[in-house]
Amino acid sequence: MESFNKYIDVNSKNWLESALLDLKKDGVIVLRGIERKANLEKINEKVDYILKNPSVLGSIGYFQKDHNKKIYDGFLLGKEVVDFVANKSVIKLIESYLEDEIILNEMMLKNDLGNGTQYFPYHRHTGRDVEGPKDKAFGCGAILYLHDTEIGAFCYALKSHTLEIEENPESNLSRHEKKEEIKKNLRRINGNMGDLVIFDERGFHGPEQPVKTPRTVILYGFQSKLLTSNKSRTGIPVVISDLVNLDLHQLNSIGVGGGTRSEYENYHARKSVIHSKKYKLLSCLITSSSRLYSSYIKLKNKIKL
Ligand SMILES: [Fe+2]
Repeated sequence: MESFNKYIDVNSKNWLESALLDLKKDGVIVLRGIERKANLEKINEKVDYILKNPSVLGSIGYFQKDHNKKIYDGFLLGKEVVDFVANKSVIKLIESYLEDEIILNEMMLKNDLGNGTQYFPYHRHTGRDVEGPKDKAFGCGAILYLHDTEIGAFCYALKSHTLEIEENPESNLSRHEKKEEIKKNLRRINGNMGDLVIFDERGFHGPEQPVKTPRTVILYGFQSKLLTSNKSRTGIPVVISDLVNLDLHQLNSIGVGGGTRSEYENYHARKSVIHSKKYKLLSCLITSSSRLYSSYIKLKNKIKL
C-alpha cells in the first residue's frame, strides 16, 4: 500500500485554512506540533504504566477482552489527555468542517498487539445512529499517535468520504461494489509521535493489518451536536478534577451537559463477556485464589492466637 506522509504544521501561518481545505478534499489530514514534547512524554509515562499490568482485583491497568489488543478509558490517563482532546484550535477546525458545534463521540487508549492477524476490516461509518442527511459530514474521527508510526498505521481511502451513502449504505469495504476502485486510493498514514490524524468518518478506514508490529494510539472523535441531538455515542469516564483547565465551550464539546445514545455498560470496550468460557475460567481462578488467600490469613491469625 502507498504511504501518505503529508502533514500540516500547526505552528505555520494559516494552517487552519489549509487543514480545512485538505480535509474537504482528501477526507483525512495529519496535524503536527499540537502538543509540547514534555506533555507527550507525561502521557506516554502513564500509558506505559497502564499497559504493563492488567486491571485485576480493583487495580489500575489495561482491559483485555481478546488476544488482539489492550484498551483503557482515554480520559483516565489524566489531565494532559483531557487538555489535548479539548484543544481549542482542533475544536474550531472540526466545527468549521461540520458546520456546527460538536460533541465528543467516544474516547479510548488502544494498544494493538500486532499478532499477525486481521481482526478489524476496512470500513466506514454510515451514520445510522445519527439524524439528518448522510451525504453531509456528520463526524470526524481523531487518532493521536503515541509513537512514530508506519507499519500497522491507520489507513484511509482518499476522497472516499464523498461516496454516496443514502443509495449504497454498505459499511464494509470488502462488500462494497466499488471496492477495487476504493482500494487503489487506500493510503497508510505514516506519522510521528504526537501527530494527530483527523478524518471524515464517512470515508473507508482502518489499521493496516495483518502486521507483527504493535501500535499504541488514543482514538476519539467528534460529531455534530445538531445531528446527534447533543448525545455522545456512549458514557465517557473522566476524573472531574482533570477538567480544571477547560472553559465552558471546551467542556460542552467533550460532552459535559450532553446525553448519551447508548448505555455506559453497552459500549464495546466494556460490554459483558460473562457468558464466555474464558471469562468463567478466569473469574473462577480469581475468586478461588481470593478465597484461598482469605482462608490462609484466617488460619495464620488463629495460629498466632
Ligand atoms: Fe471506524
